[in-house]
Order: sequence, then C-alpha cells, then structure tokens
Amino acid sequence: MKKRSITKLINEAAKKSKVGKYNKEDTSHKRKIDWPVDCNIGPGLEGAIACETKIGYINGSRGQMIYRGYDIFDLAANSTYEEVSYLLLYGNMPTIKQLEIYKNKMIKYRTIPNTLRNLLGFPIEDMHPMAALRLGTNLMRHRLTWRDSDSAKPDFTEAIASDEDSIPMETQPYGEKHAKYEFKKQKTGRPADANKITDDAISRDTCIRLTSGLATLAAAIARIREDKLPIDPDPELSHAANFIYMMTGKKPNKEEERVMDVCLILHADHGMNASTFASLVVASTLSDIYLSIGAGIAALSGPLHGGANEAVIKTLETIGPVENVDAWFAKTRSKKTKIPGFGHRVYKAYDPRALILAPLAKQLTADTHEEGSVFDTANRLEELVVSTLGKEKGIFPNVDFYSGLVYRGLGIPDAMFTPIFAVSRVAGWTARIDEYLQNNRIFRPRAAYTGDFGNKYVPIKKR
Ligand code: ACO
Repeated sequence: MKKRSITKLINEAAKKSKVGKYNKEDTSHKRKIDWPVDCNIGPGLEGAIACETKIGYINGSRGQMIYRGYDIFDLAANSTYEEVSYLLLYGNMPTIKQLEIYKNKMIKYRTIPNTLRNLLGFPIEDMHPMAALRLGTNLMRHRLTWRDSDSAKPDFTEAIASDEDSIPMETQPYGEKHAKYEFKKQKTGRPADANKITDDAISRDTCIRLTSGLATLAAAIARIREDKLPIDPDPELSHAANFIYMMTGKKPNKEEERVMDVCLILHADHGMNASTFASLVVASTLSDIYLSIGAGIAALSGPLHGGANEAVIKTLETIGPVENVDAWFAKTRSKKTKIPGFGHRVYKAYDPRALILAPLAKQLTADTHEEGSVFDTANRLEELVVSTLGKEKGIFPNVDFYSGLVYRGLGIPDAMFTPIFAVSRVAGWTARIDEYLQNNRIFRPRAAYTGDFGNKYVPIKKR
C-alpha cells in the first residue's frame, strides 16, 4: 500500500464528514442561557445542562466537534498537542512567544522524580495501568510535590528508590552498653515557597504540570510493567515524541510522532462526558485539582467510556479472522449485546474522530497487513454495524473503535491504550475545571426516591 501523508488522510476524512448535513446552519449553540433552564432529562442525566462552557462543543447529529471555535479536522490537520492544550486552557491560539513559554513549562514539568520514586514503592506491575495512573496522579499531590517542582532537570540521586529513613541513620559508638542510634538531621524542611507551590492547587501552572506530568507517569508505568526502569524525558523532543520515547525507549520517526500528536489532539476534550463530569464534580467541592483529575481517570477507565479501546481489541481477537465476523455479529445482535467501540450518548452520526483514526490505523498496520489481520476484522465489523444498527439506531464507530489499532501500529502494548486517552484528556479536564471554578457552584443533583415509607424497626431476632 502506498503511504500517504497524515495531513492528506485527515483532509480526506474532513471532506467525508461534511456531506449533506452541514448545509443547514447550526444555531443550537446560539441560545442564550437564562438560568434556571428547562431541559428534558433522562436517566443518567441525559439531556441535562450542567453548566456553561466556552471550551468545546459537539453536535451529535452533524458529527461535528470543535475546541474553542476551531473544527477538530482543522486542528488535527494543522496543529500540535502543545498548541491545542494551550488553546483549551487559555481560550486563544498562542503567539510564537506564548507558545515558547508554554512549551518550556511543559518540558520543565515532565520531570517528576519524587512522584516516580514514591510510585515505585507500589506493586505497579500487579495493577491495571489506569489504577497506577490514578495513584501516581494523587501522589503528585503528596507532601513531596514541592520537590518535583524544585527540579527542572532530572535528579538521579532522588530518582533512585532508596529507603529514606535508613540513609541518615548511623550508629554512633559512645562506648555504652547498648549502642545508641540517632537520626542525623535530615534536609526535609519545605522551602519557603512550598506552600505556594503545593497549596495553589488550582492555578493554571498546576493544570500544565498535570498535562505534562501525566505523560511521564503513564510512560513510567508502561516500563515498570515490563520490568524496565523509567526513562528520563528528553527536552529536545515534542510532547508526543517524548511520550513515545519515554514509553518505548525508542525515538519515533516523523510519521509515528505525527500520528501520536494527532491522537493526543483528538482525545483532548469532548463535552460533558462521564470523566469530565466526574472531575468537575470533585473540583466543585473545592477539593484540589490532583484529586479531581484522579476522579476523571477513575471514570475514564470503565469499558463504557475510555476503557472501551482496550475492550475493542479483546473483542476483535475473540472474533478472530475476517471470515468469522458475519457469524459473530449475527449471534451478538440476536443477543442484543453491546459491541465495544460503537454507539455514543451524543453522536447519532459518524464520530469525526473515528473518521480520522480509521485511515490512520489502516496506514500504520499496512506494513504488517496480511489477509485476515485484525484491521480487516475491524473493517468488516464496522460495515455490518453501520449498515444495520447505524440505519436503525444511529450506532456508528466511536473514538475507541480504531484508536487501539493505531496504538498497536506504534508498538504500544494493549494495556496502555486507556492511559494514553487520559494523557491527552487531562488537557480538557484541567481546562474545564479552571473554567468552572471561576464561577463555582457545587454539583448536587437529586435522585427520585421510589422506595418505601413508614417501615418500623423490628429487632433482628424477630425478623
Ligand atoms: N452495540 C450495539 N447496540 C448498541 C450499542 C453498541 N455498542 N450502543 C448502544 N446500542 C443500542 C442499545 O442497545 C439501545 O438499543 P435499544 O434502544 O433497542 O434498547 C440503543 O442503542 C441506545 O443505547 P443506550 O445504551 O441507551 O445508549 P447510552 O447513551 O446510554 O450509552 C454508550 C452510550 C455507553 C457509549 C453505549 O453506546 C455503549 O455501551 N457502547 C459500547 C461501549 C463503548 O464503546 N463506549 C465508548 C464510548 S466513547 C467514549 O466514552 C470515549
């Protein structure tokens, strides 16, 4: 297969997405919000409007997705994750100077030796990487966080997982009957500005710290799972290239770097999805942002949300070669089982992200592409679902259907698919928390009680 440029593939996907439905002007976002609003609410808060935002917009019937007014196809074709995460947080495209300052901060915040040192004390290899990522994110808020902030460059002495208590303890021979032990005075005092660094847990710098730091955490987790030591970040590389490098130990070529960058752009934000809502709920209590992002990671890990990308690959492998797909689909349909990677609460048209990821997956797997490959199985499943459930119920591939195949094409292990989603989405989570807290109101919906009234307590022996 002849390789084509990634930008060309994205522009072709953009053309595909804009057929027909784009003729009518979209006025849904022009409504002035006059609180309180009337909306039809279904179970799972379907249809509920929780807050106002200027960060991102999805039109589910047109398959349209924008960040701060910019179409996702335009951003994927022309921008970088650094620019896009800046855009989400600050609301405008950066100037050359602003981007330089932002990139330098991202590079500085890649280095989190003390968080990694704490993380290494846990049995990471036995955890799902999403559990490890949530733990690591919360460790960034550990009392030692300020130590990470001290170091713009790797600190090898700190990075080694030594037993902090045992190092300064020395036997002092006083000639007594029993040896006396004393602890040498440790240099553990917090610097004068430590409170500012750790307690200012909702500043924009903290958002950047998390956006950058999560990539280091995820990469370290990927390596620890393979019995390898974490790799120090390379300040010469872009965020996407450095992330691949820290994970795999190999510097990516230009195409691999660009593909990862596009994936990070596509996953960076997406309306009031479950994980964004979870992180906003926690932030609305004025809990700190590290814990809020931890909540977002927890929500993202489920197979109905970000965990679907890993579930997709498992499903495709269960199906096996392409000739098994039709029979598998018929059986699954008759049982009304949901197929991972399809369907969406908001999209009743093609998810624009899937339109980009499908040709990327095809191109990346082209070198290893043989008859009966996982890509062929995926492609046939898509045809069957779209021609049946697509027509009947508006069920189309979502972002998770092809992303795993793209990551496989980059040589990334399956268990890391959902953490990569989090490494990108942290930009949207932090931007939306930052926006929401400017006009905070604690989230507190109600549940409709449908239980009993008037029951009387009966002692246990008489029940
Ligand atoms: N496969 C087959 N049928 C489906 C699928 C699917 N993946 N998704 C929805 N349907 C059907 C349902 O059975 C239901 O049919 P019915 O009306 O005959 O009962 C109808 O479509 C509506 O489905 P709901 O479950 O009510 O849709 P909801 O908005 O609650 O759920 C969700 C959305 C969770 C994404 C669902 O489509 C799903 O479970 N998909 C599979 C998991 C997945 O891919 N998740 C990732 C989503 S993208 C993301 O979060 C990043």
